[in-house]
Amino acid sequence: MRMDKDILKTPATDVEQILKTALTELGSTKNLDALNDWRIRYLGRKGIVIQLKRSISKLPEKERPKFGQVINETSKTLEEQLMKHETKISSSNDTSVSDDIDITLPGIPINNGSLHPITQTIREICESFSSMGFEIIEGPEVELDYYNFQMLNIPKHHPARDGFNTLWIDKQDDEGETPMLLRTHTSPMQIRTMEKQDPPVRMIVPGKVYRYEATDSSHEWHFSQIEGLAVDQGITFADLKGTLYEFARKLFGDDVKVRFRCDYFPFVEPGAEMAIDWNSRTGDNNKEENWIEILGAGMVHPKVLKAVGYDSNKYTGFAFGIGVERISMLKNNIDDIRLFYNNDVRFLSQF
Ligand code: PHE
Repeated sequence: MRMDKDILKTPATDVEQILKTALTELGSTKNLDALNDWRIRYLGRKGIVIQLKRSISKLPEKERPKFGQVINETSKTLEEQLMKHETKISSSNDTSVSDDIDITLPGIPINNGSLHPITQTIREICESFSSMGFEIIEGPEVELDYYNFQMLNIPKHHPARDGFNTLWIDKQDDEGETPMLLRTHTSPMQIRTMEKQDPPVRMIVPGKVYRYEATDSSHEWHFSQIEGLAVDQGITFADLKGTLYEFARKLFGDDVKVRFRCDYFPFVEPGAEMAIDWNSRTGDNNKEENWIEILGAGMVHPKVLKAVGYDSNKYTGFAFGIGVERISMLKNNIDDIRLFYNNDVRFLSQF
């Protein structure tokens, strides 16, 4: 840097040299601190430009206007270049990271989300059945009357339809019928699968189902099911019981208490329900048994096998439909099904 006293003696032609030096120095500043030093040196209140301006009065009168003009232009150029360089430095990552952001500071913690308890239970159930050789399939939630009822041995006007309070889709076909609905169970996937595939069949279908019901602590108008179907030669009711008991043991442990009772579904014969003792789950073995139904099941009705073109003399099979929410309630000791759908983070963050 030039000494002040030299500058005061600088003739007009040397101002050009000062400008050159100043711009070279400016170009080599790499951060805002260095830039500020440069600004003070050249454009500050006691800077080189001011000193040059003051030196005007010491020149012979006729040289003053010319020298003054040169200095003004120089000053303008320096201001402009300073602004440009400042923008360049501020937007370059190098300097802004090193000057403005301390990358060594610890981050602000963010709470991680987790899978919904129902998703977790679905995965656990699927895992238990796939370890027994069942394939996992999915199907449509908007279904046809044909698959949801008719092919499952529930023809039009059959009283069993009353048990499935159905949400119909308001769309008429050519005959003025409304053939579409929100599936009331995952059982239509039994038909869709058997239509496509010859035996042996061993599959499960997780998914949502809809029933137009009032809600209470163990009923919701929509919930999740896992359908299961196994068809082959020689399958018996013992296979059904063995498979479902094994499933219960995998989910709840070896000491789980299960109960099978007769039940009626038009698409199985015989039909059954399986329940689990709530009190044995909560460890309160002194209380009376408190059975909670978790699935419907049965041997696939020969009429259903015939409807999909299977030889019902050669093949038999079992089917089941598990209520996922009920399983999750038992596993996690939750006493109200509606908690799953309230989206209350105090509830959800426990899983
Ligand atoms: N689909 C029946 C229901 O939703 C359950 C079920 C499935 C029963 C398969 C028997 C066989 O209630």
